[in-house]
Amino acid sequence: MSALTNLADIPPGEGRAFAHDGKQLAVFHLRDGTVRVLEAVCPHAGGPLADGLVDKAVVVCPLHNYTYDLVTGEETSDSGLSVCTYPAEVDKDGSVHVTL
Ligand code: FES
Repeated sequence: MSALTNLADIPPGEGRAFAHDGKQLAVFHLRDGTVRVLEAVCPHAGGPLADGLVDKAVVVCPLHNYTYDLVTGEETSDSGLSVCTYPAEVDKDGSVHVTL
């Protein structure tokens, strides 16, 4: 399994977008050192979720502020929108691996 990125390349509290196995993924390095991986494109109007503000629980789409749970991918205002989330692991060397 190849590494998607190294955690050291994403500052804590930020996200980055990657293309991987035909999918657009948003990878977030949370301030507690863990990683969350979501589908990168907001289903509302295509906003870049990797550029959104993130905390330990949610990411806010930078275009119209819809907010997605980092674990379930559900939008939190009952809009009915959701994104896929993917399990990710970080090796001892910081390599980030995602299971699609
Ligand atoms: S494109 Fe994300 S909230 Fe509109």
